[in-house]
Amino acid sequence: MKIAVVGRGNVGGGLADLWEKAGHDVMRIGKEGGDVSDAEAVLVAVPGGAVADALDNVQGLDGKTVIDATNLVGVEPPSGFQSNAEFVKSKTNGPTAKSFNINFARLYDQLGKARSKPSNIWTGDEEARSVVEQLTRDAGYEPVHGGPLENARIQEGFLQVFFAISKDTGPFLYRMAPPEEL
Ligand SMILES: NC(=O)c1ccc[n+]([C@@H]2O[C@H](COP(=O)([O-])OP(=O)(O)OC[C@H]3O[C@@H](n4cnc5c(N)ncnc54)[C@H](OP(=O)(O)O)[C@@H]3O)[C@@H](O)[C@H]2O)c1
Repeated sequence: MKIAVVGRGNVGGGLADLWEKAGHDVMRIGKEGGDVSDAEAVLVAVPGGAVADALDNVQGLDGKTVIDATNLVGVEPPSGFQSNAEFVKSKTNGPTAKSFNINFARLYDQLGKARSKPSNIWTGDEEARSVVEQLTRDAGYEPVHGGPLENARIQEGFLQVFFAISKDTGPFLYRMAPPEEL
């Protein structure tokens, strides 16, 4: 599949590496922007408050299948939207999914060592299912669907629960992946 990742940091760069290993053709886009017209799937993996700026610099988004992996750390979704994922859809009018936001990028290189395949929850449009589920499996996770795109705000809000779990599970998980990285 031809994939464009917008944001080439821990998440964008990390998933790009995993998808390339699985045989996909990945274009990596940073702050300079780029054209995603050729892509069959687009991943958005920029800081949660930078989504509007980032998408302003990306051409060819119309109708694209987009996976939004962003988290809202200390910021709100753009005005008028309940979630970043719904804002993303307003820019593309294409199939949209929220996914990869509640898995630590720091653990990507350990996915193959897990005793059972870790889950990766996604919420979003049925039309995005085949792409998001294939790319979830190709990254090394088992996809779990959490309902329609209206549930993306709950998935984004789940970060607070995830932070609390990480804190409670103590030093081990914290050392593996400090919650502020999400
Ligand atoms: N780290 C995790 O474990 C984790 C897990 C799940 C979700 N998340 C979420 O995923 C997103 C990315 O996290 P990350 O850890 O990958 O962050 P990161 O390593 O800091 O990478 C952020 C990337 O976003 C790009 N960027 C920043 N502002 C931009 C803009 N205005 N336009 C275009 N690109 C822009 C940067 O581009 P340049 O390369 O040009 O500087 C950089 O490549 C965040 O929303 C985060 O909350 C993180």
